[in-house]
Amino acid sequence: MIFPKGFLWGGATAANQLEGAYNVDGKGLSVSDAMPGGKIRWGILNSEDFDWSIDETKYTYPNHKGIDHYHRYKEDIALFAEMGFKCYRFSIAWTRIFPQGDELEPNEKGLMFYDNLIDECLKYGIEPVITISHYEMPLHLAKEYGGWKNRKLVDFYENFASVVLTRFHQKVKYWMTFNEINSACEIPALSQGMVGATGGSDKQNVFQAWHHQFVASSLAVKIGHELNPNLKIGCMIVYATTYSFDSNPINQLAAMQYNQAFNYFCTDVQVRGEYPAYTARLFKENGVQPLEMAEGDLALLKAYPVDYIGFSYYMSGVQNITSEDSETVEGNILGGVKNPFLEASDWGWQIDPMGLRLALNELYGRYQVPLFIVENGLGAYDTVEADGTISDDYRIDYLAKHITAMANAIKDGVDLMGYTPWGCIDLVSASTGEMAKRYGFIYVEKHDDGSGDLSRRRKKSFDWYKTVIATNGEKL
Ligand code: BG6
Repeated sequence: MIFPKGFLWGGATAANQLEGAYNVDGKGLSVSDAMPGGKIRWGILNSEDFDWSIDETKYTYPNHKGIDHYHRYKEDIALFAEMGFKCYRFSIAWTRIFPQGDELEPNEKGLMFYDNLIDECLKYGIEPVITISHYEMPLHLAKEYGGWKNRKLVDFYENFASVVLTRFHQKVKYWMTFNEINSACEIPALSQGMVGATGGSDKQNVFQAWHHQFVASSLAVKIGHELNPNLKIGCMIVYATTYSFDSNPINQLAAMQYNQAFNYFCTDVQVRGEYPAYTARLFKENGVQPLEMAEGDLALLKAYPVDYIGFSYYMSGVQNITSEDSETVEGNILGGVKNPFLEASDWGWQIDPMGLRLALNELYGRYQVPLFIVENGLGAYDTVEADGTISDDYRIDYLAKHITAMANAIKDGVDLMGYTPWGCIDLVSASTGEMAKRYGFIYVEKHDDGSGDLSRRRKKSFDWYKTVIATNGEKL
């Protein structure tokens, strides 16, 4: 048997992309509630004049209804249980607990929802894996405080993390402090609550905001471990294996520097507890002046590193700075140069299972802490046949190849805790706000024009994944 006993097979989602019920039971507005749907989303968020205003006459807001998991979570968890999930990764919507973000007392109805959700998982022996914050800070904190560049966010997050850890630590062992914390270099709006109008295009702010998030993350680890030393509290990054286009040393250097800037900067701080040696060069390249730090910050980072690394892996990238005419592709958060050896998804993300084996070896070799693949999957167009079936063989193929890569990495000696494919039930896409971009084992009858009765349906991959879990990854 290759996968260890107790391997955490499951699936992953995020509150803002599936719960819906965006204004129910005292929930406040979050930044994701202000994000228009459709392929225009990225452009709007990156524009200098977007100020987080919600305008329903101009845009649609698919996250507002999501797939109504808020009211259908029992049905959804039952389907996860039917597949044999050992764990379920979900996030807590900050705005259900602190609607504005700067209140002192939490919203009990919000806490009750997660109490019920956790109990429903435990009823089936499914281990909850919680992301404390996944792309959804309270809108008030983004608009009035300017997002994570403001030090006050550390206190607000500390209060939020303390409330949820205190409430749930006896039922939930696995936590992550921020989703894809390193994504801020490309999408500070989602990651740090900063759009152009609130300083998101200024690298000084992005790095300052990161420092605040690092401190906040260490405070969460401190609180969690004081409550229960057995809790496992991880960081979470988006990892894109990065190749040099050719053997030209200039491109090799570019790939290494890209790795440092994108893949490793945040984990270097969060796992090793200190800013890496290349920080000064990175700051210089980005025009960043020394960051403002409070006394005790660096000691806190050193004293409370994370217990494991959670990461998403969808695709790899290529660095080529010697040739200007290289073909380009889209990608998860970052696009770039086309790799002639790889095929791409319908959304242009380059599919690379071997890159996952490389990622696992690179991360484990660098840090020697357990790894957890908390997102992976294929966003694709699915077709419901006349008889109601959905034959998503392309998804099965993608996942099987990535699981094989995981097995090989385990044979390489990597300590891998678990695997939670992204969007185990169809949900709203983060980058485009589309429903048409589906990842799930479970199809949800909802479409981009808003139609659909939200009914759930098992895809072919549902039974396939059930077998994978039942055989602990032996039968793919
Ligand atoms: C990750 C995010 O980057 O990728 C998720 O953590 C997101 O929130 C996932 O949904 C897939 O991206 P997309 O844009 O296809 O939804």
